[in-house]
Amino acid sequence: MRIALLPGDGIGPEITEASLRVLEKLGDFETDEQLIGGAAIDATGEPLPQATLDASKQADAVLLGAVGGPKWDTTKPDAPRPEQGLLGLRKELGLFANLRPVRPVPALYDASPLRRDRIEGTNLIVIRELTGGIYFGERGRNGDTAYDTCIYSVAEIERIARVAFKTARAKVTSVDKANVLESSRLWREVVMRVHSEEFPWVQLEHLLVDNAAMQLVNAPRHFDTILTENMFGDILSDEAAMLTGSLGMLPSASLGANAPGLFEPAHGSAPDIAGTGMANPLAMLASVAMMLRHGFSLETEAAALESAIDRALEGGLRTPDLGGDATTEDAVRTVLSNL
Ligand code: IPM
Ligand code: MG
Repeated sequence: MRIALLPGDGIGPEITEASLRVLEKLGDFETDEQLIGGAAIDATGEPLPQATLDASKQADAVLLGAVGGPKWDTTKPDAPRPEQGLLGLRKELGLFANLRPVRPVPALYDASPLRRDRIEGTNLIVIRELTGGIYFGERGRNGDTAYDTCIYSVAEIERIARVAFKTARAKVTSVDKANVLESSRLWREVVMRVHSEEFPWVQLEHLLVDNAAMQLVNAPRHFDTILTENMFGDILSDEAAMLTGSLGMLPSASLGANAPGLFEPAHGSAPDIAGTGMANPLAMLASVAMMLRHGFSLETEAAALESAIDRALEGGLRTPDLGGDATTEDAVRTVLSNL
């Protein structure tokens, strides 16, 4: 079982190290560490060096920390940016399906900025299309204007819709902006057809994205599986993460048709706390659990790790993002001892 390990920037290396200690306990994994993001720009001039791409393609799974930081922030159109490393990897590996499960644990109900009675019983998953839309459409500058294009094909919508219908327990909520955008009208049309032809037993509803953003904080229990395009999914998944108390709790899996999956926390590189030892490694560890499940079919190990994380929280473990003062090291030790 071979893992391409891409620590990246900011807190990325710290949480990646945490994940290695947990992996050691769970099986025999071979790791191949490579550069990505700002760290790769500093060393090679490019955010996604060929060696990183090759190692990722040859691996059975890719585990990524985080990319980006103020050091590489620029508005110059031609300068390399760390995010291009991640976006390039998703595109090159064909990872069109991004799974972001949002399941607040009861121990953290009071750590969320929302009232307990709002979030109790929430158990949803965001299925975000990851290799199309405005992230990858034509963009550029023309004199004193700039443009980005949101483009989707029928085939791209069909394959992500199938992932959502297969994932849903009972209901899919497809989120679009069909009252304004043509790409959303195609989205809605294709989702409806895939539903009626292939998954008629699943309940399907459509929500406009502004309404979905409101319902996510108003009645999160209402959702089961949220199916949406790339940028809406990016925005809604950060919003949904706060239901769990912190963005530091949200794992993700990015899957393709026959490439290795990419597993990464949904949070960023948190440059403000990098190197302080205070980063919450739980989203990374939960991403490891997703890797064990989706990348290696190790369901028992995945469930054991998830339960070790839940019990750490039940036992009172709180990193600063959750209102406590536990360190990364405290979190890793607690999870390891639960395991
Ligand atoms: C995410 C991140 C990325 C995205 C950035 C780092 C490019 O926000 O995975 O949600 O926008 O997809
Ligand atoms: Mg995001």
